[in-house]
Amino acid sequence: MSKSIAGFSKLSKEEKINWIAKEYFSSPQEAISILKNYWNSDEKLQKLHDEFIENTISNFYIPLGVAPNFLINGKYNSIPMAIEESSVVAAASKAAKFWSTRGGFKATVINSEKIGQVHFIFKGDASKLELFFGQTKSKFYSNTESITKNMQKRGGGILDIELRNKTNLLPNYYQLHATFETKDSMGANFINSCLEQFAKTLKNEAQLYDLFSSAEKDIEVVMSILSNYVPNCIVRAEVSCPVDDLVEKHIENPKAFAERFVRAVQIAEVEPFRAVTHNKGIMNGIDAVVLATGNDFRAVEAGIHAYASRNGSYSSLSHAKIENGIFSFWLEVPMALGTVGGLTSLHPLVKLSLEMLENPSAQELMQFVAVAGLAQNFAALRSLTTTGIQDGHMKMHLNNILNQFEANDEERASIQKHFKHHVVSHSAVVEYIEILRRPV
Ligand code: MEV
Repeated sequence: MSKSIAGFSKLSKEEKINWIAKEYFSSPQEAISILKNYWNSDEKLQKLHDEFIENTISNFYIPLGVAPNFLINGKYNSIPMAIEESSVVAAASKAAKFWSTRGGFKATVINSEKIGQVHFIFKGDASKLELFFGQTKSKFYSNTESITKNMQKRGGGILDIELRNKTNLLPNYYQLHATFETKDSMGANFINSCLEQFAKTLKNEAQLYDLFSSAEKDIEVVMSILSNYVPNCIVRAEVSCPVDDLVEKHIENPKAFAERFVRAVQIAEVEPFRAVTHNKGIMNGIDAVVLATGNDFRAVEAGIHAYASRNGSYSSLSHAKIENGIFSFWLEVPMALGTVGGLTSLHPLVKLSLEMLENPSAQELMQFVAVAGLAQNFAALRSLTTTGIQDGHMKMHLNNILNQFEANDEERASIQKHFKHHVVSHSAVVEYIEILRRPV
């Protein structure tokens, strides 16, 4: 049965909930009570969350965890991570601790350029368009002065505007391809406002350009929007140490471990099925910090995966080598992050996460995020190439199974004790719970 409603957004929150509950749930009262259970008792705080989006009916929690002991560029940090997957924070913490006694992580921002484009259709002589653009270029800057003034005070602004002929891809398709420096803001609003002004200037000035025919004067702007692909906004994170120093529990033979680890990375470099999962592990770390600090993880995801395919085949974001007895492991990823604007000063937990990171600049945040990604990748590959992933993963997942079966304290203690020495699997845990609950 299909259900539709007119004017849903105009209903009050209570009315929206009642409608949803009545239409979709076999037990409407129970649905309403679940939704309300997640409301915040602090009405002001709840209102803040209600107003982040349209049609808010409740809050959707995911845990905010902390991975301590991250030695980065010689300084210790605790990294906030918002994520629902059981083993991610534990893995990050483990990797942080491992590298803290082996020189720590090094992170650098290589460049910080953002991109935006005005996509337009010009039906006419390309050389005349080029001439027009050359003669009009300064107007694109001067007409955006009111938008760029504040950003310029902070050391940012428009870096360059180019005319790009894309008629080899689509007939009559051109772009204004602009680059920006947006300092500590992610820059989406700034860039989009500049682009929309460029589009107006483009259309207006074309109308006034004497050399254009009337068809040429009628430039059709299709859209003006930033690009989430930022291949010149790159952060690098790395670790390295003498191969012999890799020795630890489960790494009795460090040379064999290092070689197998490098082999695992090489497989992800050449084989897309593995590369996707390998990079997913990196994104476990990246997304969790991006989310905790109020940044747009969809934008970061889209840009990073495009970067992973930049050479024509989807490949690993991280790389590893052994040279002169030194093991090195690193990644370079593009990302546009902000530590001002957006949610950063609105969401109380985002503010708290940023304060935990000692209120970083956008470039410092890029470094934390990249390090979390590399740490996560190290932890995953370390497990995969030694014990296998399920051991640690299922131990962390055990709590989820216990919660699913509403195990009481006594059952939990007995189960935790038993599975210290037995392989955790869903069926093994269920079987064990059933034994415990069997009447004697
Ligand atoms: C699970 O969330 C992530 C891993 O699959 C990553 C990997 O295979 O490298 C463990």
